[in-house]
Amino acid sequence: MAEFDVIIIGGGPGGYVSAIRCAQLGLKTAVVEGRDSLGGTCLNVGCIPSKALLNATHQLHEVHENFEKMGLMGAHPTVDWAKMLSYKQGVIEGNTKGIEFLFKKNKVTWLKGWGSIPAPGQVKVGEEVHSAKNIVIATGSEPATLPGIPVDEEVIVTSTGALTLGAIPKSMVVIGAGVIGLEMGSVYARLGAQVTVVEYLDTITPGMDAEVAKSFQKILQKQGIKFILGAAVQGAERTKSGAKLTYKLRKDESSHDLAADVILVATGRKPYTAGLGLEALGVEMLPRGQIKTDSHFATNIKGLYAIGDAIVGPMLAHKAEDEGMAVAEILAGKHGHVNYNVIPGVVYTTPEVASVGATEEQLKESGRAYKVGKFSFMGNGRAKAVFQADGFVKLLADKETDRILGCHIIGPAAGDLIHEVCVAMEFGASAQDLALTCHAHPTYSEAVREAALACGDGAIHA
Ligand code: NAI
Repeated sequence: MAEFDVIIIGGGPGGYVSAIRCAQLGLKTAVVEGRDSLGGTCLNVGCIPSKALLNATHQLHEVHENFEKMGLMGAHPTVDWAKMLSYKQGVIEGNTKGIEFLFKKNKVTWLKGWGSIPAPGQVKVGEEVHSAKNIVIATGSEPATLPGIPVDEEVIVTSTGALTLGAIPKSMVVIGAGVIGLEMGSVYARLGAQVTVVEYLDTITPGMDAEVAKSFQKILQKQGIKFILGAAVQGAERTKSGAKLTYKLRKDESSHDLAADVILVATGRKPYTAGLGLEALGVEMLPRGQIKTDSHFATNIKGLYAIGDAIVGPMLAHKAEDEGMAVAEILAGKHGHVNYNVIPGVVYTTPEVASVGATEEQLKESGRAYKVGKFSFMGNGRAKAVFQADGFVKLLADKETDRILGCHIIGPAAGDLIHEVCVAMEFGASAQDLALTCHAHPTYSEAVREAALACGDGAIHA
């Protein structure tokens, strides 16, 4: 008889959420995790620590930019970098210990160490081999660095090193205008660094609704971040005073150098599956290194499943969590399911940017008839009161049926506002359904309702 019903390899948001759900559904569950703490990249070196630094530096920015406007006069705070890092560390520990507590509460066993799969139904951790009826791979991803860029995690860093820099740099070059580049770039720009983002494409945040991306770039530029777009990075090296980046502008092939105290490589992530023994097992892989799964997260090996960043789809903690819950339900004989049409994406800069569903570009390409309801935060009393009126809500609905197809928000609390649209989309709601829903005044969420009204007879405060 197998020792466990399920062994999950990886204790990140995909793995730990799956384990808790498996245990709740009566399955004897273990998680293999080799880090000293649970929570994976997200809690240890990703989402959570970056949000702590974003919070601290956002507060600093507020003091500098807005306090005197509100009659709050007095000395400006100075930054104690070591203390800020220890605040961040405290936030990490509070969260990772919380998962340990949840494991104990739900009777999930933590097998400490790095796991591999010597044979179907077996997981090796250190010298011990454990057996399980089913195995779920939830090993996540790692930074995808570039050839010619020698990452040392001190001067030339990935997102991991960017969370523990020895000192606040005076200048920083960020390679890649994606989510990590803009979030971490914002942190250091607010701390006084001159931040230059070098991006291969001609726009920032590829895949984002183009109108939102354009507005986002303008706002970040106003905050002091510089952008060099259409630039192919050639290489980087450490210098006496920091590092030097070489890039070629794609439009005229001209070569340029850029010196900075620190270079952050934020050019995407790749699935982390090394050391699991997948090749020897004969697990089918996709060309980009993801594990191939069917719609039930099953690999081609019986009893072996995979979820999260290790399979196809957006590399987002909440997508992994949803897949973790769905696979747990499938393993318990229920009907687990993830609606990939309603997975929000959020960039936690100030203002925040959030989106769900189709972009306008995708709708144009699909040939679907659609309408746009747009509302600027300039017409939202609450946003104006807190100096956050830059930005807008853009709601996309089917031209005939009025069914909501997508929403894109740049503005205050966008990452929270987006969820009323997610719920509406899950219920197949129309823009009018949102427009007819009473929204408390004064809230930012009134801007979402106004965008819905703009899909019909018109917004009130526009
Ligand atoms: P990304 O895929 O979001 O952006 C990478 C950027 O680098 C792209 O704009 C790409 O065009 C550019 N790039 C690639 N190669 C380049 C080159 N040689 N020279 C110049 N530019 C180049 O990747 P990122 O920001 O590293 O994030 C990794 C993953 O982590 C993403 O899937 C992201 O969604 C996720 N993440 C999500 C967060 C959130 O939800 N708030 C926060 C942080 C990461």
